[in-house]
Amino acid sequence: MAITEELLGLREQTLAAIEAAETSAALEQVRVAVLGKAGSLTGYLRSMGQIPKEERAEVGKAVNEARVAVEEALAARKAVLDAAELEAAIDAAAVDVTLPGRAQQMGTRHLINRMIDEISEIFLGLGYTVATGPEVETDYYNFTALNAPADHPSRSMQDTFYVHDLSGDSSRVRGESDVLLRTQTSGVQVHVMEDQDLPIYIISPGKVYRRDVADPTHLPQFHQVEGLVIDEGITFGDLKGTLDYVCKQIFGPDRKTRFRAHFFPFTEPSAEADVSCGVCGGEGCRVCKGTGWIEILGCGMVDPNVLAMSGIDPEKYSGFAFGFGVERVACLKYNVPDLRMLLEGDMRFLRQF
Ligand code: DAH
Repeated sequence: MAITEELLGLREQTLAAIEAAETSAALEQVRVAVLGKAGSLTGYLRSMGQIPKEERAEVGKAVNEARVAVEEALAARKAVLDAAELEAAIDAAAVDVTLPGRAQQMGTRHLINRMIDEISEIFLGLGYTVATGPEVETDYYNFTALNAPADHPSRSMQDTFYVHDLSGDSSRVRGESDVLLRTQTSGVQVHVMEDQDLPIYIISPGKVYRRDVADPTHLPQFHQVEGLVIDEGITFGDLKGTLDYVCKQIFGPDRKTRFRAHFFPFTEPSAEADVSCGVCGGEGCRVCKGTGWIEILGCGMVDPNVLAMSGIDPEKYSGFAFGFGVERVACLKYNVPDLRMLLEGDMRFLRQF
């Protein structure tokens, strides 16, 4: 009889597939294919009406037997697979209390922050306080109030990151924005002179932005520590004594400083300070380009114009100002050959400090 043979074949095939199912998901697939709504065995059950009457009892019996056999096999296989899967889940979730603990990854203070803290501590020890100012600054504080002439190249739209006014005032968007990312922390000097009482002894660490491409000695974003002292009777001697002391505190007592005349719009006279090279001890080497000295900061006596612009009487008060490049100082102190290494986030590098 063709149908009963077909059924026998289907039954054998299904039982083999059930045995071969390795997961409960695979087993479920077999069940759906055979006993599901559109399953092959279900198809036979549904079409019993079309079977000639005299064969119906025999076929019906074969279909039923097949169904019972398949259901039993499914239940048996399901019990085996469920048990195995439960076992595996328990194993996977097990905590082996004899294993050593997993060490937490401890972060370290970043060298830039550490350097800012080190410099700040030295000045705090001298009685200075720490001031802060905005990183998004106006042209007035970044340039004008610091005596920077209107034609100073860093004022050009190409040299500095200007922030366009999005209020819809199109004249600004065309290139007359007066809001910018500060190019120096020196603007904080002006805020402090406007806001604080005299005398002033402050430093101001912070981020500054320049339109520079990153290379071993330049970064488009870096940090400075600005300093400003205004009091009665402050002289260039105070400036030299203070900065010489600070450099020795940072780099060690055997390091020397020298001051070279320079120009900054907001100080008169102005100077750049060098510290003797720590690699060759001042003999001259590759690091100091044979000079024995490395430049680390700009400084000078606050220009009387700058005092007057901020409402301080230059006849009565005088002062000095300075600005360190934090990344430079950090790299010089810790012999880091490339400023960009500070920003790469390589833990092997960062962990050393
Ligand atoms: N603002 C200067 C710069 O970014 C550094 C500087 C020079 C700061 C002289 C000062 C100063 O306060 O007196 O290059």
